[in-house]
Amino acid sequence: MDTLRHLGPLDRLLDSAQNALTTVLGEPRAERRNPGASTPDAPLDAGQSRHSAGLMRINHTGEVCAQALYIGQAAVARDPATRAHLLEAAQEETDHLAWCADRLRELDSRPSLLNPLWYAGSWAIGAAAGLRGDGWNLGFVVETERQVEAHLAEHLQTLPEADARSRAILSVMKDDEARHADNALAAGARILPSPIPTLMAAMSTVMKTVAYRL
Ligand SMILES: [Fe+2]
Ligand SMILES: [Fe+2]
Repeated sequence: MDTLRHLGPLDRLLDSAQNALTTVLGEPRAERRNPGASTPDAPLDAGQSRHSAGLMRINHTGEVCAQALYIGQAAVARDPATRAHLLEAAQEETDHLAWCADRLRELDSRPSLLNPLWYAGSWAIGAAAGLRGDGWNLGFVVETERQVEAHLAEHLQTLPEADARSRAILSVMKDDEARHADNALAAGARILPSPIPTLMAAMSTVMKTVAYRL
């Protein structure tokens, strides 16, 4: 942890660049086993498979955004405890990212082509939030996680009935996101003032509409 305290601006930027490359172009590795791995892979027809792939592409992009938001915030966080908190949250998002990528491959599909763009936009929002102070940083974590949790609940309803593998992944993700929000609240998050939550929801609606197809 001591090394974190001595990270200069250049180290922080290089950290961010490395994370961006791995998240968007590389193959992030999960630390935990894919929750869908032991679930039988039931056959889906072409329409079901396309719909599942669209939803899992949205979830994959959501994780790219979460990753970028936290890394952007960590890059400018002043307090080492907040920075450690953000990097720890980002690590569990890496599991989610890897699991969604696995499922997209199984569905013969691919991640969104616009992920580099979503990463850049989310990193910038994260850094801007982080510059306002650590209470804001954690407030963004709470709001992001609550919104992701709600949309995972919606996807669990709208996934094809037979797609138990995607469902297994999303259930564990949903529990993780709820815990991330609770931890950030306990660590001293401030509640974000309006219209920030509404703007975040609007941006995620655009992301979901585009990522379902592209
Ligand atoms: Fe996540
Ligand atoms: Fe999360």
